[in-house]
Amino acid sequence: MGLLDNKIALITGTGRGIGHGIAVRFAREGADVVCCSRTEANAAKAAADVAALGRRSWAHAVDVGDAAAVSALTEKILAEAGRVDILVNNAGVTRDGLLMRMSEADWDAVLDTNLKGCFNWIKSLSRAMLKQRAGRIINVASIIGLIGNAGQCNYAASKAGIFGLTKSVAREFASRGITCNAIAPGFIETDMTAAIGAEMRQKLLAQVPLARLGSPDDVASVALFLASGLAGYVTGQVVTVDGGMVM
Ligand SMILES: NC(=O)c1ccc[n+]([C@@H]2O[C@H](COP(=O)([O-])OP(=O)(O)OC[C@H]3O[C@@H](n4cnc5c(N)ncnc54)[C@H](OP(=O)(O)O)[C@@H]3O)[C@@H](O)[C@H]2O)c1
Repeated sequence: MGLLDNKIALITGTGRGIGHGIAVRFAREGADVVCCSRTEANAAKAAADVAALGRRSWAHAVDVGDAAAVSALTEKILAEAGRVDILVNNAGVTRDGLLMRMSEADWDAVLDTNLKGCFNWIKSLSRAMLKQRAGRIINVASIIGLIGNAGQCNYAASKAGIFGLTKSVAREFASRGITCNAIAPGFIETDMTAAIGAEMRQKLLAQVPLARLGSPDDVASVALFLASGLAGYVTGQVVTVDGGMVM
């Protein structure tokens, strides 16, 4: 018996890192997984990893910031999978720079993917989820949305926006049995953090009470809890997964 037996989960940014970790963890707990990434190849690789665990999987490439593309893909997914029980909005990007030098393009790219991407998927799936009178929505934000970071005003704003979106959706959908929560990871070992130099890495580690960087599976554990029946009375919350950095 798995915690997600026969549930269907749609996870964005499944191609690598945290999204891939969540997809594999959910599959191990009995879920079928719709793998959505920006690139076809990475989505297909994630879907193959889910299938190797004996679960059904589907692979789709889409830009989560493109509302029309997300809407069209939603129809296709609902037709082929039948329903979506769990939505994990995980796709995200960084385009770092100090505010005074940040281009409008870098601001828009981060807001479009990180924040509008969540809105697009929630809106697209809302009709089907409301009809089901059941559902789990999990948005992957960041501790940077809670504390800010010099050089990341676009990223921090996008992640802080996710908190407001999450709480509002939680209130709008609660009466239909749909929960909506956010996860705020700290520093997790993925491609996104691979470029951090040795000196900065040591400085970061010094701020982590648990004295290590996190793994995608650390985040997947919390996503699993929020997606499962164990979290039936939890909605509108932000759960930090950061080794104690923010407390
Ligand atoms: N790593 C950390 O320390 C950390 C900390 C806090 C929060 N987070 C958040 O956790 C999430 C995952 O981060 P990660 O570290 O796993 O990142 P990652 O390794 O860079 O992977 C990002 C994933 O998002 C997908 N993606 C990017 N832009 C997209 C778009 N416009 N449309 C669809 N998919 C898109 C990528 O697709 P392809 O694979 O096809 O390129 C990739 O699969 C992000 O929201 C990030 O902000 C990460």
